[in-house]
Amino acid sequence: MMNCFFRSLLAAAMAATFALPAFAQAPIVIMFSHVVATDTPKGHAAEFFKKKAEELTHGRVKVEVYANSTLYKDKEETEALQLGAVQMLAPSLAKFGPMGVREFEVFDLPYLFDNYDDLHKVTQGPIGRMLLDKLDAKGVKGLAYWDNGFKSFSANTPLKTPADFKGLKMRIQSSRVLESQMRSLGSVPQVLAFSKVYQALQTGVVDGTENPISNFYTQNMHEVQKYLTLTEHGYLGYAVIANKKFWDGLPTDIRRQLDEALQQTTEFANQIAKMENDKALENVRKSGKTQIYTPTAAERLAFKKVMIKTHADMESRIGKDLIQSIYKETGFDPGKL
Ligand code: LMR
Repeated sequence: MMNCFFRSLLAAAMAATFALPAFAQAPIVIMFSHVVATDTPKGHAAEFFKKKAEELTHGRVKVEVYANSTLYKDKEETEALQLGAVQMLAPSLAKFGPMGVREFEVFDLPYLFDNYDDLHKVTQGPIGRMLLDKLDAKGVKGLAYWDNGFKSFSANTPLKTPADFKGLKMRIQSSRVLESQMRSLGSVPQVLAFSKVYQALQTGVVDGTENPISNFYTQNMHEVQKYLTLTEHGYLGYAVIANKKFWDGLPTDIRRQLDEALQQTTEFANQIAKMENDKALENVRKSGKTQIYTPTAAERLAFKKVMIKTHADMESRIGKDLIQSIYKETGFDPGKL
């Protein structure tokens, strides 16, 4: 008969046997923070990534998605990533200036891309890769580009010509290029975190803003903006990034599975982006709260002629060579307006 001592020894040994694998298999947690609503291109992409990452790693990775600035707001989130308080983000390309990588602001140049195809020549090609690699020096791993779409202007007064912008306070993201773009129209740019925009529009802290329609609609901006002009004058998209130390320290097989999850997510994200923006526009239309105006070809040209000035003005900030290499890739010629 087993005495008490041996029984407890056996129990302890069994507990250790069962506890050990459970401990060894504790999942790696990726906190993924972002600032937009779930029902947007980025929101859906983050959820898709969570699903794929958990599936492909067979639960060895757990992704926690924090949407709508619930964890961090714009500037805080990049700082949190560098400190390792979150592991992944997908900030808009306009938000890398404060991190010291100004070249990403090239994507903010108005009218640089006519459509998604031209844009993908850059984001899916060597220029896009070269830009992501610049993040290494900041302790950040650049992983992929996810699309949102083309921005339109809104305000509480009609916006049909550049003259309509004179003196308007316009909310922008933290990008010098966007600042220059707004000044080219005679408006007064004001940098505000995305989470503050609705309230700032509601209380009149700013008069107007710019965003793809999916962001405009899901933040209820249509409730506080009477006029929306479909200028589609500039691109807004995202760089998916990770804390470099975290990413490089992942077991090789897990990193490979996450790379695969990301690749599938990028395809998904770039497939749904336009659809999500079209759907949001339809919803704004149905709400009846904002008048939607589609500019004529002549009106578009008038906007373009004024805003294109930003390209030359921003050469010294983002690099003439970089701008020229993108023109070459897309065939854009600012001289031919
Ligand atoms: C904004 O701040 O206007 C957008 O960049 C938010 C986002 O992440 O789409």
